[in-house]
Amino acid sequence: MEIRNVGVAGCGLMGGGIAQVCAQAGYRVMVLEMEQRFLDKGLGAIAKNLARAVAKGKLPQAEMDAVLGRITGTTVVVDLRDSDLVIEAIIENPQAKTDLFGALDGVCPAHTVFASNTSSIPIIEIAAATQRPDRFVGLHFFNPVPVMQLVEVIRTIQSSDASVANATAFAQSLGKKTIQAKDRAGFVVNFLLVPYLYEAIRMLETGMASREDIDTGMVLGCNYPMGPLTLADYVGLDTLCAIGDIFFEAFREARYAAPLLLRQMVAAGLYGRKSGKGFYDYG
Ligand code: 3HC
Repeated sequence: MEIRNVGVAGCGLMGGGIAQVCAQAGYRVMVLEMEQRFLDKGLGAIAKNLARAVAKGKLPQAEMDAVLGRITGTTVVVDLRDSDLVIEAIIENPQAKTDLFGALDGVCPAHTVFASNTSSIPIIEIAAATQRPDRFVGLHFFNPVPVMQLVEVIRTIQSSDASVANATAFAQSLGKKTIQAKDRAGFVVNFLLVPYLYEAIRMLETGMASREDIDTGMVLGCNYPMGPLTLADYVGLDTLCAIGDIFFEAFREARYAAPLLLRQMVAAGLYGRKSGKGFYDYG
């Protein structure tokens, strides 16, 4: 089945990035947000990203205009009715996701494949809210989406071979490398990443090393592009805590129990880069 029109639900950090890379690959994109102000902010961020590439001489102005011309915003679910593929990237809340897909199921044609970009929720739990669990997969992108090369493709016990093949080919058409993961909370990358970030926070919490030394250790000792505390701020401490809580619920293992320091920072509204302060100050 040929994919021409892509619906993207959510125009935050991930949804905006997904919409951008889809439009850059030539797809027509309809982006759904709950409110006009979120849509304006998300579309503004895409334009700013592309303008930065133009300023660096990496993207012709005409190409930027063409990419933006392929993206339309909406706050109405029914506007996604012409999508051949819908990728959901809204908040990490199972109820919000099942409500959205329940509504999309009623407006999208039978051939539309649904994909969730969830970081942590088993895909089958979301797919079960629709009448098309065979045409439902996970497509998990990484932040920042235009830069990160990987997409995890998640097949559930009910995904058809055709929808997995279709979604994989689609992700590859965006210039991404794909890996296949089983439909278990955390898939491949976050299953490894979250305990690593939590361990770094526990190290800071117990005074084993300073935040700078923890980060410098991993940047210079392992050649990671960011140290774990910088990366936690980058992912968002609220998001990291929400992902860990879902893992803890699923596996009941101590390594997924949020460190007290993380929980307290989230309670204090210190979400990392997006709120201006986390382990570091971005003021
Ligand atoms: N959007 C688009 N492009 C961006 C960008 C963004 N948000 N941030 C950086 N870039 C581009 C820059 O424009 C630059 O492009 P150029 O090479 O064409 O000029 C390039 O990326 C490098 O950027 P910078 O020179 O500004 O900075 P760095 O070299 O330090 O790279 C980084 C920034 C790419 C973010 C790098 O630090 C990195 O790879 N960090 C690790 C990110 C990571 O681990 N992400 C995964 C998070 S986990 C996740 O997403 C899963 C989820 O479920 C939680």
